Amino acid sequence: MTADERLAQRGERLQRLTQTGRGTEMGTLLRTFWHPIAVARTLAAGTAKPVRVLGEDLTLYRGEGGRPHLVAGKCAHRRSVLHTGWIERDEIRCMYHGWKFDGTGQCTLRPAESDTGLPPVRIVAYPTHEYGGMIFAYLGETPAPAFDLPCKDVFEGDDRIVFARSEIWDCNWLQLVENSLDAAHVSFVHQKGRIGTFIENVSDAVPTLEFEETDAGIRQIATRGIGNVRVSDWTFPNNNHISVPGLQKGDPWIDIGHWNVPLDDVSTARMNIWAVPKSTPEADRRISDYFEARADYNAADHYRELFYENIFPEDTVMSLTSAQDYLAQRGQGVVADRDNEILGRSDAGIALLRRIFAREMQALATGRPAKMWRKLEHATDLPIQAVAP
Ligand code: FES
Ligand SMILES: [Fe+2]
Repeated sequence: MTADERLAQRGERLQRLTQTGRGTEMGTLLRTFWHPIAVARTLAAGTAKPVRVLGEDLTLYRGEGGRPHLVAGKCAHRRSVLHTGWIERDEIRCMYHGWKFDGTGQCTLRPAESDTGLPPVRIVAYPTHEYGGMIFAYLGETPAPAFDLPCKDVFEGDDRIVFARSEIWDCNWLQLVENSLDAAHVSFVHQKGRIGTFIENVSDAVPTLEFEETDAGIRQIATRGIGNVRVSDWTFPNNNHISVPGLQKGDPWIDIGHWNVPLDDVSTARMNIWAVPKSTPEADRRISDYFEARADYNAADHYRELFYENIFPEDTVMSLTSAQDYLAQRGQGVVADRDNEILGRSDAGIALLRRIFAREMQALATGRPAKMWRKLEHATDLPIQAVAP
């Protein structure tokens, strides 16, 4: 094989990691996992909205009793969108001619037909699960795996403030996932603006990096000095769990669970859960208010300001970190040019990530068993004091 052929083969291999539609290798792999598809509080009981996930346009609705359901984007009759219809008990009715569907996709009523039993019509439907303030869905072959891998004690329990939010970025999902395994970026991307107490606690020294494949994903260790060690716990295929300093000096550190879900190959939902141990009623109120006030910030809405006008959000934690990460990752293009990249030692996590994805895609494509990723038996300890006191 010539050098050019080797390069072309590498390019094709990497391109496959970016393609997530139904029938693609990555799309097939991703469909074997649960993914967060919406922030739970944005969907009131008895309402519906359109969602896009892995290239599929779907309808997400909540029955009047509050149960979420994910069904086809379009009605089986004459293909009008379903989310403009209305909810009756646990079913959705198309506004065009009133056909009704339940949460399993079964058509239950065609008012202008003379059905004597259930109409012989179904639309696609996927299982959902609510967790950590988000609605998750499983778009693969049934039965769905147990909802276990995304669970972490730190995102559960009444002793925590748990706040979910999402942004939609106009670039391919792989850029966002690769960034999770790129601890070196923190020392540069998050310098500007002295975000919160972060740089003070973590420092801007370039880290030495270690990576280890675990039962659930990859453990990443970034060491910036004696006693200054950050650990992040990445769960296959698109979740990163990190811990960051509190909003103010003296506030508890924040656990962030961060999922990158392809809406399609040129847009990605950056879904995250922020979880903080409760402390005093005043601090809890202040922290909750802070989260709520910034819930709707979406860095992609500020493309011009960020890229061409050098205007950054005033908030120095949630919005600024998003803006900085967006600038770096969207700055790679809608789909990063991996044909012309030059990887170095600091990219060992990205290289490992790509090898694992390739291995798992290959297993599925050739009918070999894929790895049975499972929740870690003992939660990874993420140090909450990165700098030695
Ligand atoms: S298009 Fe939905 S009922 Fe006719
Ligand atoms: Fe970042």
